[in-house]
Amino acid sequence: MFEKITSPFIFTIFGASGDLAKLKIFPSLFALASQKRFPKDLIIIGYARSKKTQEEFRNDFIKSAKKACEHKDSKIPYCETTINNLIKHVHYFSGQYDELEDFDAYLEFIEFIAKKQKIHIPKIHITYFSVPPSVFQPILQNLALARKSEKDDLRVVLEKPFGEDESSAKKLFHFISRFYREDQIFLLDHYLGKTSVQSILTLRHNNMILNMLLKGREISSIQITAHEEVGVEERAGYFDEVGIIKDMFQSHLTQILAMITMSIPITADAQSFHREKEAILSALDFSPRPANVFIGQYEGYQKIKGVKKNSRTETYFATKLKIDRETWYGVPIFVRTGKKLAKKLTTAVIEFKKLPFQKNIEPNRLIIELQPREMIHIKLINQYGESSEYHEIGTSESIACRGEDCLPEHAHLLLDVLKNEKLHFLSFPEILASWNITDKILYFLSRKKQPVHVYPKGSTSPPGIEELFQKKGEYWFEIRGE
Ligand SMILES: NC(=O)c1ccc[n+]([C@@H]2O[C@H](COP(=O)([O-])OP(=O)(O)OC[C@H]3O[C@@H](n4cnc5c(N)ncnc54)[C@H](OP(=O)(O)O)[C@@H]3O)[C@@H](O)[C@H]2O)c1
Repeated sequence: MFEKITSPFIFTIFGASGDLAKLKIFPSLFALASQKRFPKDLIIIGYARSKKTQEEFRNDFIKSAKKACEHKDSKIPYCETTINNLIKHVHYFSGQYDELEDFDAYLEFIEFIAKKQKIHIPKIHITYFSVPPSVFQPILQNLALARKSEKDDLRVVLEKPFGEDESSAKKLFHFISRFYREDQIFLLDHYLGKTSVQSILTLRHNNMILNMLLKGREISSIQITAHEEVGVEERAGYFDEVGIIKDMFQSHLTQILAMITMSIPITADAQSFHREKEAILSALDFSPRPANVFIGQYEGYQKIKGVKKNSRTETYFATKLKIDRETWYGVPIFVRTGKKLAKKLTTAVIEFKKLPFQKNIEPNRLIIELQPREMIHIKLINQYGESSEYHEIGTSESIACRGEDCLPEHAHLLLDVLKNEKLHFLSFPEILASWNITDKILYFLSRKKQPVHVYPKGSTSPPGIEELFQKKGEYWFEIRGE
């Protein structure tokens, strides 16, 4: 039996005709319904400009839910029954995003649906913005202006990207704060819905031994890797505008970095975690030198439909950062991420300092594997027969989900919104801090035309990224995996 949401709610998806809604939001609502987490009084509304009948929209919803059910990894039982029960609560409203009258009509539509379903209008109203960021502002404004009373519990979920740089993110947050209180806003980075990423906080919050090790003074370096096997494919047009620095580094990887290096707050509430993450993110430091950054592009990228001719957009990025805090003084943080590589791999490798007499041996390492395996290992030198060898003494596999309790990442986050829990969402200051360091890197790259290294598809990593290491004996630690 899963924890149930007992209070009735309305769930509106703005941009319900789009890809994100079909690929992630409908299947997530369906997955939560299949775990019987929903109360009997709920209203789900798809809002978009496209003209669709109720039936057409319900068919879209059913198609997405069925696809999720039929997926080879799906653990969802009783698909048909769940779909039949849920679909009765699903409705469609066609309206413009920038017309206040359409929002008035949409609120009347909610009243009409509630009457039809013979329920009171639920107080909790979740609104999910599954639209391009250019449409955020008119919806935010009209939703607030059309609202009949401030007594309802209106929650707004916005998905990254938040702005294009620090300055536009600031403007967006100022705009939001004209209409909403901070506690109403859920800023979503879907990486934080991954159970493996969430498990970093679980590991750190519950294991004193790890927190004693994760002090800057004991660490010689940290390496964070996020490699993907896939290329840009159907997202080519969007990706070519942004590049991997904004797409992966700006939020996903800076979040992982912050979770590993932040101080663990005593109070386990979301605000305290956000405060500590922000402290790290705002202390991130990039020295603007060519030796501290590497950009690459996979072979054949420029021939993809949607990519600009002679595009310099990076599909690979590696950098060396520092944390400007006394305890992290001199500890380099290496981050690398790229597409079309040999295998999908997201890991963090923490290397510990050696004593002077331990010159020619491997350092002790703490390895956190986030994707595709979810594991933590400690590698130590130990005595084996007559020699000392490098061995793994501790391995723990985190079983993020078992059988029917597996949820997709958006479903975890939607559940948190329904429970009004913010731990796995971002705060405004965190986002501004991570834009700040991203902007510094991008500014440097725009001033100093760095070479874009072309790398073969399927490489383990592009040749040349080892040049970020300036100390003898340092190298990228490759995890062999399965
Ligand atoms: N797709 C993904 O996997 C993914 C992953 C992470 C984040 N995101 C982010 O989530 C948001 C939505 O993604 P998406 O892929 O669903 O986008 P999308 O398909 O381009 O847009 C969603 C819906 O918004 C409306 N729309 C699109 N462009 C518009 C415009 N210029 N003006 C007004 N309305 C417009 C369209 O609905 P109507 O015309 O019917 O109103 C469209 O069906 C984006 O900001 C994206 O960056 C997407």
